[in-house]
Amino acid sequence: MRMLVTGGAGFIGSNLVRIILEAGHAVTVLDDLASGFRENLDAFPSVRFVVGDVRDPEAVAGAVAGAEVVFHLAASVGNKRSIENPVCDSEINVIGTLRVLEAARRAGVRKVVYSSSAGIFGELVTLPIREDHPVEPDSPYGASKLAGEKLCLAYGRLYGFEAVALRYFNVYGVNQRFDAYGNVIPIFARQMLRGEPVTVFGDGEQTRDFVNVKDVAKANLAAALARGVSGAFNIGSGTRVTINRLVALMARAAAAAPAVEYGPPRPGDVRDSLADISAAGAAFGFRPAVGLEDGLAEYMAWSRKEIT
Ligand SMILES: NC(=O)c1ccc[n+]([C@@H]2O[C@H](COP(=O)([O-])OP(=O)(O)OC[C@H]3O[C@@H](n4cnc5c(N)ncnc54)[C@H](O)[C@@H]3O)[C@@H](O)[C@H]2O)c1
Repeated sequence: MRMLVTGGAGFIGSNLVRIILEAGHAVTVLDDLASGFRENLDAFPSVRFVVGDVRDPEAVAGAVAGAEVVFHLAASVGNKRSIENPVCDSEINVIGTLRVLEAARRAGVRKVVYSSSAGIFGELVTLPIREDHPVEPDSPYGASKLAGEKLCLAYGRLYGFEAVALRYFNVYGVNQRFDAYGNVIPIFARQMLRGEPVTVFGDGEQTRDFVNVKDVAKANLAAALARGVSGAFNIGSGTRVTINRLVALMARAAAAAPAVEYGPPRPGDVRDSLADISAAGAAFGFRPAVGLEDGLAEYMAWSRKEIT
C-alpha cells in the first residue's frame, strides 16, 4: 500500500518513513525542506520525494495521488516560532492542513493520521492528562494545531474517511537536530558535548513526559492500520521525569559532568506534564517500548556524530 508522509524529511517524519518501509509499504514524501533535511531520506532511495509546499494545492494533489493513507506532519513547529510569526504559523498549520484534507477527500484516501500536539491543552488542570482535558492553548501554535486536529476529524465525519489525531507530548530521538526553536534534549546535548554549562529554566523540578520517536512512529503506523479507528489520542511515554533527572541521565549517557546554570522560569512553561496513554493502547495497541535511558544513550551517540 502507498502512504504519503507530509513533512517526511523532518525529525519525526523521517523516522516514520523508515518504519513504513520496513513494514513493506511504499512511501511518498511531500516536504518543502523549510525545517527538514533531504539527507534524512538518503537511506531510502525508493521514496518518491515531492519537494513542495502543503499550501500549494497542485503540489499536494500530485503527492496524494495513489496514496491510501496520509500522515500529515508538515507544520510550522513550536510556540516561539508561532509567536514571532503567527500568520505564517496558521497559513501552514491551518490552511496547509485544509489543502491536504481537500486533496485527500478528492483522491478517496482511506485514512488521515494527523500529528497534533500536547500544546493544544494549555494550562494544565489535571494530571495525568486525558484526551478530555480542557483545551485552552496559550500560543498561536497550540491554537493552529488544535484547528488542524478539529479540521481532520470534521473532514473524516463529513466525507466518510477515517481520521486520527495523535497528540504528541515531548518527542525526542535520532534526527532531532538543534535549532533556535529547539526542544530541551537537543539543546542540552549540544551544551554537554561542547563542554558548556547546561542552562535550566526554573528549579529543574518541573516534569515532562518524554517519548521516543520510534514509539511515535510506531503509533502512527498502528493508528493507520487499525480499521475503524478515528478520534484524538495522546501519545507519550506515560511516565515523567524532572528536568534535573533528565540532565543527570543525559550526562551519564554522554560520560560528561556538566555544570548546571539555573535561570528564571520561562513565562508560559507548564510545571508538570504527563500523558494518560490508555486510550491509544485500547484503540490500536500503543505500548511505548523505548525506555528513557536506552533512548538517551542512542540519542547522545547520534548527537556526538552530528556535532563532531
Ligand atoms: N517534536 C515534538 O516534540 C512534537 C511535539 C508535538 C507535535 N509535533 C508535531 O509533529 C510534526 C512533526 O514535527 P517535527 O518535530 O518532526 O518537526 P520538523 O520541523 O523536523 O518537521 C516538520 C517538517 O515539515 C516540513 N514543512 C514545514 N513547512 C512545510 C510546508 N509549508 N510544506 C511542506 N513541508 C513543510 C519541514 O521541512 C519539516 O521537514 C509537526 O506537525 C509537529 O507539530 C512535534
